[in-house]
Amino acid sequence: MSKDIYIHGTEPSEQERLAGLNRMTNAAFIRFLDVPAGAHVLEVGSGLGLLAFDVANAAHDVMVVGVEISAAQIAKAPAHKRVTFKQGDAHTLDFPDGAFDIVYARYLLEHVADPAHVVREMRRVTKPGGRVGVCENDVSLIRFDPPCPAFDRAWDLFARFQATLGGDGLIGRRLHRLFRQAGFTDIELSVQPEVHWYGSPGYVAWVHNIIGNLESARKGLVATGIISQTELDAGVAELERLKTDRTGSAVFVWNRAKATR
Ligand SMILES: C[S@@+](CC[C@H](N)C(=O)[O-])C[C@H]1O[C@@H](n2cnc3c(N)ncnc32)[C@H](O)[C@@H]1O
Repeated sequence: MSKDIYIHGTEPSEQERLAGLNRMTNAAFIRFLDVPAGAHVLEVGSGLGLLAFDVANAAHDVMVVGVEISAAQIAKAPAHKRVTFKQGDAHTLDFPDGAFDIVYARYLLEHVADPAHVVREMRRVTKPGGRVGVCENDVSLIRFDPPCPAFDRAWDLFARFQATLGGDGLIGRRLHRLFRQAGFTDIELSVQPEVHWYGSPGYVAWVHNIIGNLESARKGLVATGIISQTELDAGVAELERLKTDRTGSAVFVWNRAKATR
């Protein structure tokens, strides 16, 4: 069931978008995670394995296990002698209690049927004194200038479509609640900003990534009648224009939470 919730799918163009997003966001996430040397780490929903690879290289002798539901994603993961992948569902982590020093998930909770259960599972497999960290989406926190009204409408409908699949593109705002309900008391919230403008190094890649989000869901968005092909094209065209607009800028923030078990 969880597989069908995943709004982006695993087409090569989507895997390319996700790899690009990793290039843009991994360094900041690794600073947030702050993995100590020798740590045993679990990534839940490890996708293409690119973040797990970078986490393994973040400190001496770090071992990472990635759990991922899709065999197509695991098949694309780069080899690393201290990283292994297991196909599995985040709702039923196949590890004993307290198996890992650090457990993290990024861009996952928005895609699962029961995020509260997943956070509880993450806590269960963390050692007492170990840490859990997540970084998630709240799609309402996006802004472009000059205004892109057709994009704004398509983006709103994209989030509604995700909700009809059983996901939650606004889950970033719920992280504190989810962590409290999972039993954590020592919780810290933070954000990871995306601030880009015409000519800045990440500007075109960021706008391209947002277009890729829409494109990954195009088939479903249009087939369900949530948005027409023409309206979606208009939203995408606005962002394509923004890429070359010398006055253009983009702001977004990722929502993060970390806690000690
Ligand atoms: C947006 S990707 C993020 C991948 C990776 N964490 C990263 O930051 O690049 C989300 C991944 O979660 C996987 N996924 C979705 N539902 C899952 C579940 N219930 N259990 C495990 N993985 C799941 C998807 O197949 C996809 O590869």
